[in-house]
Amino acid sequence: MTAQMPLRDVLDAIGNTPIVELTKVVPANSARVLVKLESLNPTGSYKDRMARSVIEEAEKRGTLKPGMTVVEATGGSTGSALAFICAVKGYNFTVVSSDAYAEEKLKTMAAFGADVVIVHSPSGKVTKDLIPAMQAKAAEISKREGYWNADQFSNPDVLIGYQGMGKELLAQVPEGIDAFCGAVGGAGMTMGVATVLKGKGRQCHVTLLEPASSPAITKGYGGQHSVEGVGIGFLPKVLDKALYDDAMAIEEDEARVMCRRLAREEGILAGTSTGLNVVAALQIAQRLGPGKVVVTVACDTGLKYVRGPLYDTDN
Ligand SMILES: Cc1ncc(COP(=O)(O)O)c(C=O)c1O
Repeated sequence: MTAQMPLRDVLDAIGNTPIVELTKVVPANSARVLVKLESLNPTGSYKDRMARSVIEEAEKRGTLKPGMTVVEATGGSTGSALAFICAVKGYNFTVVSSDAYAEEKLKTMAAFGADVVIVHSPSGKVTKDLIPAMQAKAAEISKREGYWNADQFSNPDVLIGYQGMGKELLAQVPEGIDAFCGAVGGAGMTMGVATVLKGKGRQCHVTLLEPASSPAITKGYGGQHSVEGVGIGFLPKVLDKALYDDAMAIEEDEARVMCRRLAREEGILAGTSTGLNVVAALQIAQRLGPGKVVVTVACDTGLKYVRGPLYDTDN
C-alpha cells in the first residue's frame, strides 16, 4: 500500500476516485461492468468536481471576487458541493432548493453555512415546473449587488471538472472502454466525460439515461418523478448531440430495486440515479457480450437517502 501524503487542503481530496467491477449483479455472458465510485468525493457526489471548476474558472475571469455571494438553483447535490467549496474559499452562498429533495441534502448545505431558500413542491416530487421555478428565484436573487449566479444548467465550466473524471477513467481502464452510460440532469458529467472518452480518435459508445417518467431526451417531454438530480424536464444547454450515440429511458422502480441489490450484494450504497445507471449498464453489457467493458458511475452516496423510502424492503 502506498501512503498518501497530507493534501494541501480538502479541495485536493476531490477526484481520484476508485473504480470497481460488479461481480454479483452482472448476468453470465455479459461484458464486464465497472463502476466509478464518485460517492467517495468529499460531499459524497461527483458534483464536487464541477463545483470546484465553476468557482475557480469564475475566479480566474474575475467575475467572482472575495466578499461576493454565490447563488445556485439545485436539487441539493450541486448545492452541497458548492456550499463546501464556498466554505473552504470563504464565499457566502445562497442556495435555492426544494422540499422535493432529501432533507439530508438541505441540512448538508446549511451545515456548510449556506443560506437555503426553499421552493415548495406541493406533490413532494420533482415536476417539470419545479426546476424552472427554482431557476427563476435564483435569477431574481442574483440581481442583487455582489451576487453571482453559478447557473449550472447553462455554465460550460461544469465540463472542465468532469474532464478530469474522463482522464482518470482512461488511466484506470487501460484496456479500453467500449461503452459508457450515465443519467442526465444538467448533462455536465456525461458531456465532460464523453469529450475525453470520444477524444483523439478514441471509440466509445456513449448512452445518455433518463427516468422513463421524465423522457425529455428520448421523447421530448418532461414529467413527475422521484429520481433526484436527473430528468429535469428540458434539454440542458451543455447537451451536445456530437458527444453521445443514443439515449435510454429506464423505469425508476427498476432503479430503486437495483439500489437495494447494489447495497446488499455488491456493498455499494448509492442513490437512485446510480441504480438507473447500473440497470442500463447491465442491459448494454448483455448486448455487447463477453470481452467488452462497460463503465458507469455511482453518482452519489446512499447515505443521502437513508431517511427516505429508497432502502425499504417492501418498497
Ligand atoms: C444524484 C445525482 N445524480 C445524477 C446527476 C446528473 O448529473 P449531471 O447534472 O451532470 O447530468 C445529478 C445532478 O444533479 C445528481 O445530483
